[in-house]
Amino acid sequence: MTVITVPSPPYAGQKPGTSGLRKKVKVFAQPNYAENFVQAVFDVVKPQPGATLVIGGDGRYHNRTVIQAAIRIAAANGYGQVLVGRGGILSTPAASHVIRKYGASGGLILSASHNPGGPDEDFGIKYNTANGGPAPEAVTEAVYLRTQTIDRWLTVESADVDLDACGSTRCGDMTVSVIDPVADYADLMETLFDFGTIRSAVKGGFRMAFDAMHAVTGPYAHEILEKRLGFPAGTVRNGVPLEDFGGHHPDPNMVHAHELFETMFGPDAPDFGAASDGDGDRNLIVGRGRFVTPSDSLAMLAANAHLAPGYRGGLKGIARSMPTSAAADRVAASLGIPCFETPTGWKFFGNLLDAGMATICGEESAGTGSDHVREKDGLWAVLLWLNILAVRKISVDDLAREHWDTYGRNYYARHDYEALPTDKADALMAELKAALPNLPGKAFGHLTVAEADSFSYLDPVDGSTSANQGLRVLFEGGSRIVFRLSGTGTEGATLRVYLERYEMASGNLEQETPHALADLIVAAEAIAGIERHTGRTAPDVVT
Ligand code: G6P
Ligand code: ZN
Repeated sequence: MTVITVPSPPYAGQKPGTSGLRKKVKVFAQPNYAENFVQAVFDVVKPQPGATLVIGGDGRYHNRTVIQAAIRIAAANGYGQVLVGRGGILSTPAASHVIRKYGASGGLILSASHNPGGPDEDFGIKYNTANGGPAPEAVTEAVYLRTQTIDRWLTVESADVDLDACGSTRCGDMTVSVIDPVADYADLMETLFDFGTIRSAVKGGFRMAFDAMHAVTGPYAHEILEKRLGFPAGTVRNGVPLEDFGGHHPDPNMVHAHELFETMFGPDAPDFGAASDGDGDRNLIVGRGRFVTPSDSLAMLAANAHLAPGYRGGLKGIARSMPTSAAADRVAASLGIPCFETPTGWKFFGNLLDAGMATICGEESAGTGSDHVREKDGLWAVLLWLNILAVRKISVDDLAREHWDTYGRNYYARHDYEALPTDKADALMAELKAALPNLPGKAFGHLTVAEADSFSYLDPVDGSTSANQGLRVLFEGGSRIVFRLSGTGTEGATLRVYLERYEMASGNLEQETPHALADLIVAAEAIAGIERHTGRTAPDVVT
């Protein structure tokens, strides 16, 4: 095998964000751009000769080009084997599982998650480590450092691999195995959930709608929901992955999955509705006439998880990201297990899962998952919901009401202000951060600030600290506003304002969320001066 060294100057700005390096396709398509980044990853992780690497993506535009390049670079860097999903497809949770199952040293996941795809849209590369989870910050920081001094990448002379047929071939001295992207993952799901009971419910007339949003979960949902669980054909909508997701944002929320919402709030709504995002790690749960916030979903799943075979032995702990509502904390308290509060980003759950300190994790950003893999997992959440509903023979709405009657209700919403000029967003955050020490004791309408801080996380497993993870304003009585800048955008800055109000079980559990949060919305403006800094009078997206 002859290794070819391609001289290549560094590119500025190859800093991985919350979830890998994300840029416009046009940026990634520049000569050497993707190659430099992949090489920088390999320079940092220094694969053992003969190591296995997993490669897969969400099928978006530019996937195949980068996969072919990455395979050759992997061969030149001494990997012994690459496992790649057929068609270049592997959902993010499936990639995590494949890394773990086959003892790979890591994997490259090519995706920009819920961001749109196509020649003028977004692309991304993320590296996951041997535990199947996103690389920790020490690794992503080292990769970023390396991208700033890199001066060459390595490759071999080899024809493109046929990605559309399962089987093995060679690239240099390396074996490339094209694998079925669905089978291993679907088998894992069968070990965790009671497929028999779900099948019986389906036979008894239980109906659902699943919107794959023309993204990666289509093939997984067809196999698991329609083939293995017996839901009728047509249950899975938009089930064929497209390079541009049919021109939509593959983001399962009220805005981008509005057709599913219309179905679920319409006259012929099935029992259960769900959707997943571009790379299959997010989930949307909506019952007939009842949307379940991701924060509530985490709490409700945790409270009922023991009904699924994979969790029959109970949970070791729950973990949630800081901006996620405290609904899960109340479940943890009643189960007598710990609840961890981590910074935003699934990677922060990795240590807790590896150490056996948490079993179920979740984030307000539509992510839920468990220790079965090291990524959040959209279809896993859907299947756990199905398992619970099938065992309990209860509607989503009744389950939600029963939950709130027991634990109280955390009214919750996130307001996003998108594509802000970065300097304006930074100025807002800087001014707010400086004002935090003076907030305690101040009143905003009926709300009095109890505490205000910049969230910092001390990882209980490795002792590392992550500072500046969002600004928190905590009010007396358990209400809360969190301000944070998104770490996943590709243009300008996105300000996220997370609003949460706790209502005790004895209180008014029947309010509409915007009404319940009205005072907090006014307080957020008064505290942060969003309009003064950005000129915006309303958020672009409310989730
Ligand atoms: C990705 C990560 C999530 C994280 C989310 C937050 O989806 O995988 O773990 O919660 O980004 O994104 P943000 O835009 O708020 O930084
Ligand atoms: Zn995603």
